[in-house]
Order: sequence, then C-alpha cells, then structure tokens
Amino acid sequence: VPVKIYDTDSEASLDVAKRIATIIKQKQAEGKTAVLGLATGVSPIKVYQELIRLHKEESLSFKNVVTFNLDEYYPIQPGSAQSYVRFMKEQLFDHIDIDMANVNIPDGTLEEKDIAAFCLAYEKKINSYGGIDVQLLGIGRTGHIGFNEPGSAPNSGTRLVTLNDLTRRDASKDFGGKENVPTKAITMGIGTIFKAREIILMAWNGKKASIIKKAVEGVISPDVPATYLQNSDNVEFVIDRDASVDLT
Ligand code: F6R
Repeated sequence: VPVKIYDTDSEASLDVAKRIATIIKQKQAEGKTAVLGLATGVSPIKVYQELIRLHKEESLSFKNVVTFNLDEYYPIQPGSAQSYVRFMKEQLFDHIDIDMANVNIPDGTLEEKDIAAFCLAYEKKINSYGGIDVQLLGIGRTGHIGFNEPGSAPNSGTRLVTLNDLTRRDASKDFGGKENVPTKAITMGIGTIFKAREIILMAWNGKKASIIKKAVEGVISPDVPATYLQNSDNVEFVIDRDASVDLT
C-alpha cells in the first residue's frame, strides 16, 4: 500500500484538499459532475476547512459536485448534535455553494424494515453517477473503514451494521456516555468503497499508530477490515509522522 507521511496533519490536509479541488475543476472543464465520497470524524476536518477556504478565497465552486457520505448512526435524527448530517453541514456544506439536493447521507430515521431497500437504492444512486471519483476515509481503532467493523466481508455493500464496543467507547464523549451511543449504523460496504476510482485514507496522531501498522503491514483479514485496502490499486494512506511511528 502506498503510504505518504507528512510532518503534520495540516500539511497533509492541504494536499488532500488540493487533490479534491483538482478533480472538481477537471470535471467542471469537461461539463461533468464530480462525485465525492466523504467521511466524518476528526480526520477530515482540516481538509474540509481548506475546501471552504478555496471556495471563499479562490472561487472554487461545488455546483457540479455530488457527495455520498460513508455512514450515519442508526437510529438518529438529522438535527441531533451527533448526527453526521449535522456534522457535514457544520464542517462543510453550510459554507460552500453545493446544492443540498446533491448531498447524500445514509438516513438514520428510517424504519428498520425500510433499511435494506434504502441501502440498495444508495448503491444504485452512486452507480447512476458513474461511481465515486475520490473516497475519503478515516480509520477507527478497531480497523474499521466507514463503519465496517471486524468481521465485515470484502464484497459487502451498504447495510445496517452493529457498532463494535471500542467504537462506541471512542464515540462516548460525543454522546455524553457510551450508553447513549447508538448500537447500530448504516454504512457503505467494503465493496462500495473499493469501487471508488481513488481512495485516500487519512490518519493523524500517535493513537492511530498501532492500527496503521496493522492496516499497512498486517495479514489481510476480516479481523482488521482496513487490511482489505492492501488489495486495492487505487488507495493511498496519507498519514502524519505520529501515526507512522510503528511502521517498519
Ligand atoms: C466516519 C467513519 C469512521 C471514521 C473513523 C475515524 O464517517 O466512517 O470510519 O473515519 O472512526 O474517526 P476519527 O477521524 O474521528 O478518528
């Protein structure tokens, strides 16, 4: 797996934002739509800040951009403080000129019986735009990408999943206690992620060093879903020095 190590997450995030902006502008020049796969969490925040800056100061337009987010808690209301709809609005969408009709995030308000159909439609919608041009990923300490927790199959699609206990513990401060963290989520699958033409996994901070080592150098196994990325020709790990310290 190609790994690019930066001194700081800020420098790395500027580069990732530049790559995304280049794709958007290329598509614009061709009169086409750019399809972005987006992640929430701490890891992409500085990328989104730079995209906002590029919009405000360098007139980067998102009018031709369609987005698909990786995941959403289930159940959750879009207006609740921890929802990924709220996160994406606050961190990105409210500050750029994207048409909100072009924004797609798994729906945390569905009735359970309607989830399977929703997930199939999500996959079809991605395909209808010709697939994802660039997919951003973070990595959880369980090795999850999206919310594909240990045990996820390499060909999995968008679906309802159960969150790992460690993932819920890591989210507990956002929810004011682990007991308030939803036990489930709707996530794109490993197979969905693999169809993206470019995949960028970002990890910052020494807290991610051991899982980065496993993801990059470990045996490919459902026990650490991020190891599946070793089988992709389109992935790059973009990490900071601190997250790289365990790599050999
Ligand atoms: C978020 C997502 C998760 C996070 C991962 C890392 O949409 O899919 O896989 O990317 O849990 O989270 P942070 O970046 O907060 O460390």
